[in-house]
Amino acid sequence: MKEAIARLVEALNGLAPETALVLGSGLGGLVDEVENPVRVSYGDLPGFPKSGVTGHAGEVVAGHLSGAPVLMLSGRAHYYEDGNAAAMRPALEALAGLGIKKLILTNAAGSLEPDMGPGSVMLITDHINFSGTNPLFGEPSDARFVGLTEAYDAGMRAALEKAAAATGTALHKGVYMWFSGPSFETPAEIRMARVMGANAVGMSTVPEIILARFLGIRAAACSVVTNLAAGMTGAELSHQETKDMAPLGGQRLATILKAAFADGLATV
Ligand code: HPA
Repeated sequence: MKEAIARLVEALNGLAPETALVLGSGLGGLVDEVENPVRVSYGDLPGFPKSGVTGHAGEVVAGHLSGAPVLMLSGRAHYYEDGNAAAMRPALEALAGLGIKKLILTNAAGSLEPDMGPGSVMLITDHINFSGTNPLFGEPSDARFVGLTEAYDAGMRAALEKAAAATGTALHKGVYMWFSGPSFETPAEIRMARVMGANAVGMSTVPEIILARFLGIRAAACSVVTNLAAGMTGAELSHQETKDMAPLGGQRLATILKAAFADGLATV
């Protein structure tokens, strides 16, 4: 972790972003909008994930977005890869060590709302951890008892909502339910999720939110809807569909994020 921080400090050469973005499926293109980018491959950063999911790169890209300093993690590790819910912990610890104070997580998700179809963007207001696991299993300190009442930072959420309104971009709001994956949900699980209060389902983000709060990093998250959830249409779900549909909402989310950075998200 110390080595990863040292390498990033050296690569960043004086740039000191306080806001980081984790780019999920479909948002990888946002790295191309970074001004004067510095790129470091995860392979050169001890502890960073060796992400093997197609549709995910694996590099840190730092620079400016809409004139504001930013650090992006392009590619993440998922619990379903090898059953390690804390797979992102070393990377997030490195960001904390680097001085990151705010984290915006993005993901692709299935929607439970017929009027929030593919291409929609949802600001996550809260989550349901339905995986049965937690990235803080095994953490010995009392810091493991992290409060999650305000897991999704009110100030950051307000900034994202303001940016969506300013750009005329529809931004839904809702609860994200974390399923372990990698298999998709069954229609019965989706009916259960709806009863439980979920508006979208996905296979990431929640462990990173928990880790961010554990590390004292403020956090917000947005989902890009790639499909209506299992059983809501006649169609079978697939990762190919996730990859194909993510860029649609990804562009909308990129619009919101760029406007939010231009309007001082980095300083809220
Ligand atoms: N379920 C879980 N994860 C997903 C989905 C889904 O329907 N779509 C994209 N990621």
